Amino acid sequence: MAEVVIVASEDEAGELAASVVVELVRRVPDAVLGLATGSTPLSTYRALARRITDERLDVSRVRGFALDEYVGLPAGHPESYRAVIAREVVGPLGLTPALVHVPSGDPTTIAEAADDYERAIEAAGGVDVQILGIGRTGHIGFNEPGSSLASPTRVKTLTEQTRADNARFFDSPEDVPMHCITQGIGTILRARHLVLLAFGASKARAIADAVEGPVSASRPGSAIQLHPHATVIVDEAAAADLEHAPYYRHAWANKPGWQGV
Ligand code: PGA
Repeated sequence: MAEVVIVASEDEAGELAASVVVELVRRVPDAVLGLATGSTPLSTYRALARRITDERLDVSRVRGFALDEYVGLPAGHPESYRAVIAREVVGPLGLTPALVHVPSGDPTTIAEAADDYERAIEAAGGVDVQILGIGRTGHIGFNEPGSSLASPTRVKTLTEQTRADNARFFDSPEDVPMHCITQGIGTILRARHLVLLAFGASKARAIADAVEGPVSASRPGSAIQLHPHATVIVDEAAAADLEHAPYYRHAWANKPGWQGV
């Protein structure tokens, strides 16, 4: 079962997720981070940037792999995940740009790009900590409902729900690409630690399905139940549909200090 931590605010969630990364980098200076985009991980990146500065943490050898990218945006588009990762992660955290990878969304080379990305993650020794958000459709990465739980990095068609949810980043809803390249669910499950965050009532159903629902390709987030080390950090609103919330609170309140997150 995933460990579920219910916190009071996005900031508190960000502090906790950042502490997982800080402890990892102290132990493993060239750790491999799996990097999510979207609104959810922003409080984690903010907390992480502050701790890296305050604690003078050397992150120059830290490596990173983004979860996904849109297919077909012009190079340099500000909402391409390559640009977002540079602006919201690499810059603020002071990572070494050449060590942080984003799959290529160039349609002319997309088939090779997916295989290359999968191989690059493997060659790096795999992802140590994978930061994840979850979509209202239940997607992790851009693995929409129906994605094989063993899927590798590949091209997917976005649901209209996801395109509508992401329209806020674009001038018009039609500008949201139809396709993406995403780490597969199989790829994500090979990361050594999953840290999934979710905030707000719009994520409550997806979180309940992911944590407590049957494991099913129809609920891609439920794949985390197959992972031996998954941490789910949610605010009260996103926790609202969790049947066993009292137990998760009890377990967290009584967690042995030696256990770590
Ligand atoms: P959000 O997206 O963080 O912008 O809500 C999450 C996701 O789609 O995985």
